Amino acid sequence: MNHSVDSEYSSFNPKSNKDSLSIDLLSDLPIELLSQLKEVGFLSLKDVIIEGPLELSTRSGISMDDSNFIYNQAITFLEDIGVMEMRFTPATTLYDKRKRIGRISTGSQNFDKLLGGGIETNAITEVYGEFGTGKTQLCHTACVMVQQICSQGGLDGGALYIDTENTFRPERIETISKARHQNPIQILDNIVVAKAYSSSHQELILSESSRIIESQNIKLLIFDSAISLYRSEFLGLSSLSLRQQRLNKLVHSIMRIAQTHQIAVLLTNQVQSSPEAGFGNISSKAAGGNIFAHSSTYRIFLRKSNRNRIARMVDSPNHPESEALFSIGESGITDPQRNNS
Ligand code: GTP
Ligand code: MG
Repeated sequence: MNHSVDSEYSSFNPKSNKDSLSIDLLSDLPIELLSQLKEVGFLSLKDVIIEGPLELSTRSGISMDDSNFIYNQAITFLEDIGVMEMRFTPATTLYDKRKRIGRISTGSQNFDKLLGGGIETNAITEVYGEFGTGKTQLCHTACVMVQQICSQGGLDGGALYIDTENTFRPERIETISKARHQNPIQILDNIVVAKAYSSSHQELILSESSRIIESQNIKLLIFDSAISLYRSEFLGLSSLSLRQQRLNKLVHSIMRIAQTHQIAVLLTNQVQSSPEAGFGNISSKAAGGNIFAHSSTYRIFLRKSNRNRIARMVDSPNHPESEALFSIGESGITDPQRNNS
């Protein structure tokens, strides 16, 4: 059975992608070595960065020393051509870049303000909360918003939606698009959906995602949810350490994808049942333990508030802990109506 990314795209041949930064650019390396790396799927310099030196060595059979050398060569090349940050960069340059960083509107001005303007590129934004708090609705709305031009809150790009809970609904995209006066067919055309059936299938999809990101001008990568398959497969204390290892590898790959492709990553997470929460109270603890806590750039907790929802910025390197009131309507995520609280 072929669980490749998506039937329409699985025929896409990465070897024919002339725009990618081919590893042939490392012209100092022997041709035989370059062929060996290509054989095991390292076609571009970005593949080398995203997979990391350990994976490079494991898959190709070359020594760790050689693998580290190639990895550093790839980083240096990408630094030189401006794809990656120079390793010694003045803070003023970084500050100028941060002011121009791409952001995607959530659909709600209140929510955008909480995020400092919208869902940020080159970063992981994690949204967690109980069932029905709007995580999947946010993912659907963001798929529409990312396609808008910059002045309308988008990045003029597509979305790659990794659906692990079978809750992606094209008809919801249609209603959100129509409510936002967009052509639903065009919007649906720019969303690539990959259904993941197991944690290893999710990892396979991620490892194939670079091709889709480049060929389809993807600016937003969504995981709804990032962790549920791991939670259902790795049960009990005995498998906890393996689960955390796998999750650690996953989130680091996701972060490298965000940074090398300069795209936004939105991932949803569940809340952990917590005895401290007590009967009738909501746990505000995200699942996934420390792995997610340390890897997400921004962590946002969602909860219900009558007919509205509240988003709380729980962890951020540059925002105070604050809250925003938003609502779910025809147009997806939106600001609450005045009489709707
Ligand atoms: P889990 O995945 O179960 O953890 O929940 P979630 O946080 O992903 O919830 P989701 O985003 O699916 O939000 C579900 C809520 O969105 C429902 O309770 C509805 O109130 C609302 N909703 C879903 N579809 C529509 C719609 O078409 N119109 C409107 N107005 N609201 C909708
Ligand atoms: Mg959901």
